[in-house]
Amino acid sequence: MSKFWSPLVKDLVPYVPGEQPKMANLVKLNTNENPFGPSPKVIEAIQAELNDSLRLYPDPEGENLRKTIAGYHKVKPEQVFLGNGSDEVLAHIFYGLFQHGEPILFPDITYSFYPVYCGLYHIEGKRIPLNDRFEINPDDYAQPNGGVIFPNPNAPTGRYLALSEVEKILQANPDRVVVVDEAYIDFGGESAIRLVDDYPNLLVSQTLSKARSLAGLRVGFAIGHPDLIEALNRVKNSFNSYPLDRLALAGAQAAYEDEAWFRKCCDGVISERERLTKALEDLGFAVLPSKANFVFARHQSKAGEALAQALREQGIIVRHFNKPRIEQFLRITIGTPEQNDALIGALELM
Ligand SMILES: Cc1ncc(COP(=O)(O)O)c(C=O)c1O
Repeated sequence: MSKFWSPLVKDLVPYVPGEQPKMANLVKLNTNENPFGPSPKVIEAIQAELNDSLRLYPDPEGENLRKTIAGYHKVKPEQVFLGNGSDEVLAHIFYGLFQHGEPILFPDITYSFYPVYCGLYHIEGKRIPLNDRFEINPDDYAQPNGGVIFPNPNAPTGRYLALSEVEKILQANPDRVVVVDEAYIDFGGESAIRLVDDYPNLLVSQTLSKARSLAGLRVGFAIGHPDLIEALNRVKNSFNSYPLDRLALAGAQAAYEDEAWFRKCCDGVISERERLTKALEDLGFAVLPSKANFVFARHQSKAGEALAQALREQGIIVRHFNKPRIEQFLRITIGTPEQNDALIGALELM
């Protein structure tokens, strides 16, 4: 606390990102990054952009990238909004598309940035409990609200909600924006983007941080009805007109131009996820069915926190949340085959 702080700052409860340790040779399975690295074409494109043009501001609308993403997802460019990571896109959504006088609905176990945005903008957040199998029940979202948001697949559970169920939530809320946060959709789920032309209240957010291995570049986007995109542009242009720099625009563009690399990375993560799930089950873990690049698992007898600590002592970092209902679980990012072997080997000795 300092006398220089505004009255708003002292009440903020900021998000705590997963640890980014500085030690070398760690098996880092704690922040859902992609183990396979970005396409070499992305690196080339960024290197090609390292020139005198850096003295100029980037395109504030990211027109080329918006066209590319629109073409890829078969929507119009005016249905695409770009941001500095999907976290920034989500921040603008909370500000610009939710009705602040009414509670925003999200699952009780979900991405922990949602309550943080509620705090930032002084909006009430209402947590809707997942069922005993950690699934979203669409009927629970048919109640008065100022907007609805959930990840699909959910984080940190990894559980996927079928599009027919997503549609039930959309139909129950025709006068409110429903946001489907698809940070992990490319690891086996079907995107709700194909529904945006049927539901003017649907906004889908995605990121290049996960399936396209570009967490360090900070590129995310949302797709929905042009009216929703216009609201986001109004917020963006009242905050930072240039959220994506020249290198990010060039790198993201190249990522979309290398479909083969993208598919190879996703397939690699999916097959390792299935292998790791089986190995964990053989070791006495219950593993929730995951369509993400991580699994959420609890051991039948060993405590989650103790296991996370024991793994850390072996140089293997996984995520443990000290929160009700999930304190016995570990969230384990899918690593390379070698990293997953190291994890399995260490657990076998515990
Ligand atoms: C559910 C969910 N949404 C959004 C994000 C933010 O992704 P980024 O800001 O890297 O695009 C994350 C990051 O882990 C996430 O788990």
